[in-house]
Amino acid sequence: MGIEMTRIAIVEGDGIGHEVIPVAKNVLELLHPEYEYFSVDVGYHRWEQTGCPCADRDIAELKTADAILFGAITTPPMKDYQSVVLRLRKSLDLYANLRPVKGNGFDIMIVRENTEGLYSGIEEIGPDRATTLRVVTWRGTERIVRSAIRIARQRNGILTVGHKANVLKSDVLFRDICLAEAQAAGVSCNERFIDALALDILQHPSSYDVVVTTNIFGDILSDVASYLVGGLGLVPSANIGDRYALFEPVHGSAPDIAGKNVANPIATLRSAGMLLAYCGDEKGSDCIEAAVQAVLAQGIRTRDLGGSAGTREFGEAIIRALLQRE
Ligand code: NAD
Ligand code: IPM
Ligand code: MN
Repeated sequence: MGIEMTRIAIVEGDGIGHEVIPVAKNVLELLHPEYEYFSVDVGYHRWEQTGCPCADRDIAELKTADAILFGAITTPPMKDYQSVVLRLRKSLDLYANLRPVKGNGFDIMIVRENTEGLYSGIEEIGPDRATTLRVVTWRGTERIVRSAIRIARQRNGILTVGHKANVLKSDVLFRDICLAEAQAAGVSCNERFIDALALDILQHPSSYDVVVTTNIFGDILSDVASYLVGGLGLVPSANIGDRYALFEPVHGSAPDIAGKNVANPIATLRSAGMLLAYCGDEKGSDCIEAAVQAVLAQGIRTRDLGGSAGTREFGEAIIRALLQRE
């Protein structure tokens, strides 16, 4: 019986995706030359060329991968444009979006529900009224809080439920299921209104461990919390379902800096680290983080961190650090 080869799909996407993904791909190829890598071209640029940002056959191809490394895709605020990222999260049923924010004295894992809430896609656009349905289901909540509980258990930690149940009845359901599941699992759990939580996580980051919340609150909270570690260039994410997994930086395509070789590739490198851990190579994941720390300690930084290293130069320094490791 032959050993099955691990297959990694690589999606650069748009904007700085074209700059940060090659850096992370070089690292994966160095650590795992035995993996098979294949590119899938989707994104806003495809929509501009062909009127279709992502075809059914692209999704089918992505489904053949063991894991997907994803850059970022421009999602313009247009009524008739469907976000590729959201379509992938839905069609691959990537219901758990894990966004770790780790720094000096704190280690927070934001667990964002990734398939429903305000991202239900159930919308009605009229000439003078537009509505978006916020959907919270028992099944959707149960599976996300169970993922969060599993993570809290592994870390011996506590769970915080972020919600707005004082206003939204849909969040009463979310909150009640989360608290009941945590209690049944014997995991310490508390709750906070999401607005107060967004400030408190900045003021007292060490008070938080695993935070579970609904889709858009998790989206906003992760950008806010990135402030704790130096901004969006540093925070990775994993989108995990029962069958597929996609790893991407929390940031977007950053059109304001695209093509200038100034984007910070750390968020994408860390996403590649999360991909390796998912593929069973925890050690490779640790090597990537150690290389990031070593390069930062050498004073090599991109512009967002006050340095002058370009994206490519930072990537070269990471490769040198990995080659020098014991
Ligand atoms: P953004 O995350 O792209 O950029 C926000 C700010 O952070 C910008 O000033 C940008 O220069 C900076 N920034 C982001 N990543 C950086 C990096 N690696 N290094 C240094 N600076 C970095 O968010 P935005 O400007 O609101 O959105 C731009 C586009 O990206 C939009 O079309 C949006 O829909 C899309 N987007 C996509 C994803 C995704 O594909 N998962 C995520 C977020 C936003
Ligand atoms: C993210 C992004 C996406 C989201 C957009 C681009 C659809 O902001 O991954 O954080 O809202 O989830
Ligand atoms: Mn976001």
